[in-house]
Amino acid sequence: MRNRIVVGGLLLAGALGLVAAGGARAQVSSETAECVACHRDEMPGLVTQWEASPHWQAGVGCYECHRAGAGDADAMDHNGYTVATIVSPRDCGRCHAKEAAEQEASHHAQAGNILNSKDGLLGQTVGGEPAVAVGCRQCHGSIVKTNPDGTLDPATWPNTGIGRVNPDGSKGTCSACHTRHRFSKAQARRPEVCGKCHLGPDHPQKEVYEESKHGILYRAFSDELNMGNPKWVAGEDYFDAPTCATCHMSATPNQAVTHDVGDRLSWNLRAPVSKRTKGWEDKLANMKDVCTACHGGVFVTGFYKQLDDFVDLYNTKFAVPAKEIRALLMEEGVITKANFDEKIDWLYWELWHHEGRRARHGAAMSGPDYAWWHGIYDVAKNFYTEFLPHAKEACEKAGKPEVYERIVAKYIEGDPRHEWYVKGFDPKRLEEIRKYYQERYQQKVE
Ligand code: HEC
Ligand code: HEC
Ligand code: HEC
Ligand code: HEC
Ligand code: HEC
Ligand code: HEC
Ligand code: HEC
Ligand code: HEC
Repeated sequence: MRNRIVVGGLLLAGALGLVAAGGARAQVSSETAECVACHRDEMPGLVTQWEASPHWQAGVGCYECHRAGAGDADAMDHNGYTVATIVSPRDCGRCHAKEAAEQEASHHAQAGNILNSKDGLLGQTVGGEPAVAVGCRQCHGSIVKTNPDGTLDPATWPNTGIGRVNPDGSKGTCSACHTRHRFSKAQARRPEVCGKCHLGPDHPQKEVYEESKHGILYRAFSDELNMGNPKWVAGEDYFDAPTCATCHMSATPNQAVTHDVGDRLSWNLRAPVSKRTKGWEDKLANMKDVCTACHGGVFVTGFYKQLDDFVDLYNTKFAVPAKEIRALLMEEGVITKANFDEKIDWLYWELWHHEGRRARHGAAMSGPDYAWWHGIYDVAKNFYTEFLPHAKEACEKAGKPEVYERIVAKYIEGDPRHEWYVKGFDPKRLEEIRKYYQERYQQKVE
């Protein structure tokens, strides 16, 4: 049992809104005082978190967030009040209109719409529904269903996926980043927040960041980054290291905070073949403006030259040929038009969705190991030692070896960057390499 005497004393004062621990603060409403009086006993951790938040300071309480209209799909009768458990972006938007509008316009808000993707097929059919519920949807968001009494269907909630479809039709969850009930912006500025979702074999932004100079500096100087400051402008309030938020969301001397994480992206680096985003020139200028809070313009132009060349290499040397070769195999009836029913479907999938993304994300965020060893090295290994041999084998099995001959003529012999695959390495290059090793290590190399 909790200590009733002490807790009871605090409870009374708190319920009347009379205590101002830690400075001046607005009074809470009489409704909220009642919620708190009972909830302090029932779930003290939750109430304490709220009391440590700027909302408590501003007199924004349980009722101001959780109150619901009687007609809302998730409205429930609760101890004489009509409340809803979900406080959607639309609800937060009553007081934070700018953030809610930007969030709603972002790709984050669209992330719940994944059912009809190839990933969706993989999750639902190749995996299975319960795996989608605790996997995909915890990152992307569920479609929240309600029971007749307004409570939430446990098959669809708890969930704080980034593009959750809420009972009021709004999309997303603010507490995906601003964990309840503190709703702190200092917490959301940390890279670990994004790392719940942005990691792993198909989008390792967190791992890339950790190995980058920026991640190294973050670990060394995180105490000096002033993340608790109300104003947090790169180059003014901190300078040692950028976090994910710095580059994708936070303010610079020339830009305000944005809740549309696409505002600064000139490329789509997750598509099978990378394409420019809509209005990419402005978005590129936005990102460069972030970099130049700490770096010189020549440095940043050089960085983007290397990134753009790298994306072009991935696109033209591997992604477009692999995509077209697989399409040709389908057209010629060598493989079926279905996804994931043949080995080559899986090879192609991993080539762009895992290996090719890792490579591009490594290049975009200065993680050399991901750009090369977990990236283009894996792409090339797949393309030359698995994808092409499998295409050949499939053509032969289907009794259509001439299809593979056409592939070789067009994509391999037709591109000097692939010629070595059929013609072997240039003997002159091999001789240079032999000499190099001999001089460097005084070794004989066969
Ligand atoms: C008399 C006590 C009492 C009062 C007053 C009260 N609550 Fe609750 N509330 C509870 C209890 C107990 C639970 C947990 C129910 C459970 O575990 O099944 C709860 C659960 C909730 C939930 C979660 C419901 C769910 O289905 O997950 C929300 C949201 C909530 N309360 C908000 C409020 C708000 C807002 C107010 C004030 C307008 C309030 N409560 C007033 C006792 C109370
Ligand atoms: C700034 C708005 C805000 C305030 C203030 C607020 N809540 Fe919440 N609360 C939320 C959000 C957001 C969620 C997460 C629901 C979701 O979207 O899944 C939540 C979830 C909950 C839940 C269910 C989750 C759980 O962990 O059990 C309960 C219970 C709850 N709130 C009670 C309260 C009580 C009691 C207070 C007052 C002490 C309060 N809330 C104040 C926004 C708020
Ligand atoms: C009734 C109005 C109201 C509602 C509803 C509301 N807030 Fe707030 N919020 C405020 C006020 C007032 C402040 C403190 C002053 C400020 O920073 O704007 C604040 C501050 C914040 C901050 C800044 C915290 C910091 O560390 O400085 C965040 C983040 C935030 N709210 C998120 C949310 C989220 C997410 C929701 C919905 C779950 C929400 N708010 C709902 C009024 C509201
Ligand atoms: C660990 C969190 C996580 C899990 C689990 C996860 N995803 Fe994702 N998914 C992401 C992130 C983050 C991105 C964005 C990657 C990027 O931009 O580089 C993404 C991207 C996508 C995209 C591309 C969206 C677009 O607009 O281009 C689809 C489709 C997708 N995921 C579907 C799924 C499906 C289906 C599952 C389960 C079979 C799944 N994801 C599992 C986090 C996750
Ligand atoms: C992808 C993560 C993420 C999501 C989702 C998110 N926020 Fe934020 N939010 C942040 C970060 C990071 C900051 C801090 C920006 C800065 O000042 O550096 C922030 C800051 C804020 C602030 C303080 C603004 C200021 O100028 O001081 C408010 C208010 C806020 N968010 C509300 C919301 C609301 C409402 C939602 C949902 C509609 C939401 N956030 C969703 C990451 C997020
Ligand atoms: C709860 C999971 C989750 C969290 C937390 C999260 N994201 Fe995302 N993010 C996603 C998913 C899923 C996508 C892919 C959305 C789609 O295109 O369908 C995505 C997409 C993005 C994109 C690409 C947007 C575009 O327009 O193409 C950026 C950039 C991004 N996130 C940055 C961040 C940053 C920075 C943070 C932390 C401050 C963060 N995200 C937190 C899940 C998350
Ligand atoms: C130094 C700045 C910087 C930091 C720090 C940073 N990013 Fe990025 N990020 C970039 C750049 C630059 C791009 C590519 C921009 C473009 O398209 O022009 C990018 C692209 C992305 C994308 C889009 C990928 C796609 O598939 O199109 C996501 C998602 C993302 N970053 C998430 C994160 C996350 C999560 C973190 C932290 C773990 C992070 N970023 C840290 C600069 C940064
Ligand atoms: C808050 C300051 C800050 C911001 C913003 C910032 N950087 Fe950096 N960056 C640094 C510091 C400090 C270093 C370490 C310099 C060194 O290597 O000695 C660094 C290092 C680098 C490196 C060198 C990596 C290596 O391994 O040698 C690259 C490339 C880079 N940044 C690119 C960018 C790009 C591109 C952006 C914008 C998208 C950016 N930075 C934004 C502070 C910043």
